Amino acid sequence: MTPPLQPRTRTHLPRRTVSIIGTGSYLPSRVLTNAELEKMVETSDEWITSRTGIRERRIAADGEFTSDLAANAAKAAIENAGIRAEEIDLIIVASITSDMFMPSTACIVQTKIGAKKAACFDISAACSGFLYAIEIAQQFITCQTFNTILVIGADKLSSIVDWKDRNTCVLFGDGAGAAILRHRAHGHGVITTRLGSNGELADLLQVPGGGCAIPITALNADQNLATIHMKGAETFKHAVNAMVDSARQVLDDAGLEPSDLACIIPHQANLRIISAVAERLELPIDRFMVNLDRFGNTSAAAVAIALDEANRTGRMKVGDYVLLVVFGGGLTWASSVIQW
Ligand code: ACO
Repeated sequence: MTPPLQPRTRTHLPRRTVSIIGTGSYLPSRVLTNAELEKMVETSDEWITSRTGIRERRIAADGEFTSDLAANAAKAAIENAGIRAEEIDLIIVASITSDMFMPSTACIVQTKIGAKKAACFDISAACSGFLYAIEIAQQFITCQTFNTILVIGADKLSSIVDWKDRNTCVLFGDGAGAAILRHRAHGHGVITTRLGSNGELADLLQVPGGGCAIPITALNADQNLATIHMKGAETFKHAVNAMVDSARQVLDDAGLEPSDLACIIPHQANLRIISAVAERLELPIDRFMVNLDRFGNTSAAAVAIALDEANRTGRMKVGDYVLLVVFGGGLTWASSVIQW
């Protein structure tokens, strides 16, 4: 077994070992296939599969909200970690589809799982949100502010998709993934994480309406402003570049080469993006965890669901080096190297 690598900040100062001690995920039961989408918009299974790799996605029921997806994923992670909900000190939910503006989805999840002593807040970093939240959790545990943190990526994207826009509606799905983080002395854990953003490219991926800038009113209700607007081809290009650059940076920070990685867990947006990243990092595609064929792009949930699947299917052995790499609206991106 590979000996533990010292966790690092970007300045190579040592920090506490923070381990992922449990993972969980939840996908709604309703499956929406490409064949069904063919009946909703002018598209084809062949176009969707060849351009994205997506074959089907999950859609939450009408009365099933982001907090329900999140709470189910959290319960699975709590069970996997072998802890009680009362031991959780902090809940962070990453989402762009909160149940409501106030309270935070994290507070709603707290009640649903009975994590009575936890502090709770949400963060917004689109598809990158789960890794942003992992880094926040890492900092809190390193500073000894909190010991046990529940991080959740959850999104009900079906609630903000324009189901008449074939450019976007074929891409997205609903789901949630969760991880429990805790300090583990002399153990394996998160070695280092890099976060990045470029607000100048905000217009590539937006939900322009529904906030205070453009409230939805009777006058604009028919303009679909509270749905996802995306410039797909440009987003694609930036996604590949940002994921490759941040992966290289974080590997450099950790003193590792791409070939040291046993498993790469990327954002699940498009198989062609993942293939391009694999090619640029000179890694075989089978080292990448891919489940977008079954779940589509679930935004903040995607990498968390893939992490849980990799954990439960034994893709990662203790001591393995694992890279998580994400990209999303903002634009935002992040990479994290973990010794499992
Ligand atoms: N079915 C059939 N045709 C379609 C469909 C569809 N579902 N969607 C678009 N088209 C058409 C367009 O109308 C366009 O037609 P035109 O050329 O006649 O105008 C053509 O297909 C576009 O083709 P391409 O430009 O070749 O499409 P591309 O290869 O770029 O694939 C896609 C489009 C899948 C959206 C890709 O650009 C992509 O994956 N982009 C990145 C998305 C992403 O990564 N998002 C991540 C973040 S998401 C978040 O943060 C919430």
